[in-house]
Amino acid sequence: MSMKERILVTGGTGYIGSHTVVELQNAGYDVVIVDNLSNSNASVVDQIEKVTGIRPAFEKLDCLDYAGMDAMFAKYAGIKAVIHFAASKAVGESVQKPLLYYRNNLVSLINLLELMPKHGVQGIVFSSSCTVYGQPDELPVTEAAPIKKAESPYGNTKQINEEIIRDTVTSGSPIQAILLRYFNPIGAHPTALIGELPNGVPQNLIPYLTQTAIGIREKLSVFGDDYNTPDGSCIRDYINVVDLAKAHVVAIRRILEKKQAEQVEVFNIGTGRGLSVLELIHLFEESTGVKFNYQIVGRRAGDIEQVWANPERANKVLGWKAETSIEDTLRSAWKWQLKLREDGIQ
Ligand code: NAD
Ligand code: WQD
Repeated sequence: MSMKERILVTGGTGYIGSHTVVELQNAGYDVVIVDNLSNSNASVVDQIEKVTGIRPAFEKLDCLDYAGMDAMFAKYAGIKAVIHFAASKAVGESVQKPLLYYRNNLVSLINLLELMPKHGVQGIVFSSSCTVYGQPDELPVTEAAPIKKAESPYGNTKQINEEIIRDTVTSGSPIQAILLRYFNPIGAHPTALIGELPNGVPQNLIPYLTQTAIGIREKLSVFGDDYNTPDGSCIRDYINVVDLAKAHVVAIRRILEKKQAEQVEVFNIGTGRGLSVLELIHLFEESTGVKFNYQIVGRRAGDIEQVWANPERANKVLGWKAETSIEDTLRSAWKWQLKLREDGIQ
């Protein structure tokens, strides 16, 4: 048997990172996690081991720590590629603390891009977001759509990071890059051993919804029913987190097999299906049998009216496609919420 190829996953104890570590291990990769635990818990490493039977290497380390990252690359010799999830991601907080967001999200990437050639790391998969499209002029949105002015410092860090990667490659850096623009990741691993751990009052729809359904919150507020959409509520493309994790595995394989047509490639990672907030609420009730209270309230500042992906490029070029039904995805989110209750976490 050939030696396992080693992959660094920054932010690997976080929501999307932990699911991706599982899929990388299932695909035969040797994983090193770097996370400063600013938005996750070290026990996630145990949970990953429960799912796969393999314990990933874990370093509690801040990506802002250049010397620490340098030493980590030396310690885990032979890292072939990086998946860079580590970032701060709360949109509202980024408006209050822009410099925290710019420092954390920009300097972490800059450190990696400087250290990769030094340590012979071939490529990077970067967590970008559909937020770079703002309100697209045409739907479904393709990767060719123009980048719109960011609505928040958080969104701006994604745009700037994409540019930093392009400029670095243009300057002659030997690295390969794949930018994955995620739509709205939801759900949890079907084992309910890993999932999303919201910090405080959830800002995102699904954690707020499942917390309401279990009785932690009284009512879900639907932010607006007067949008120019069929039922008046906003439309998003909700992508199952395990499907999303698998997109990273195919991106890594593409980098390592040197299959890229260009040194920087960008892919939408979504289902291609837009669902309104009200449709999602009804789908949740139908697929879990659980009813809960909701009310229509005013619009939330900064919300995009409607966005969903054209994922054809990822389908054709990466050979990746979202597979899990929305019903199974919503059931997984509910199962995870029940598990948090069972474990006395929430
Ligand atoms: P998350 O907060 O669960 O995971 C991020 C992890 O990075 C956390 O475990 C955190 O502790 C860690 N981290 C943060 N700063 C760090 C630093 N300086 N050094 C080391 N570790 C650090 O978030 P997530 O939802 O899993 O998101 C992962 C990535 O995907 C982020 O870059 C996010 O911006 C991006 N993204 C997320 C979504 C979404 O809706 N969840 C959508 C599009 C893009
Ligand atoms: C989804 C829909 C809300 C909560 C954000 C970031 C984006 C991205 C993912 C990373 C919207 C509605 C929500 C509630 C509601 N992250 N809603 N009641 O806003 O699409 O995207 O997270 O890059 O950058 O902006 O996701 O889950 O907050 O909202 O009605 O209590 O649910 O208005 O239509 P969003 P979300």
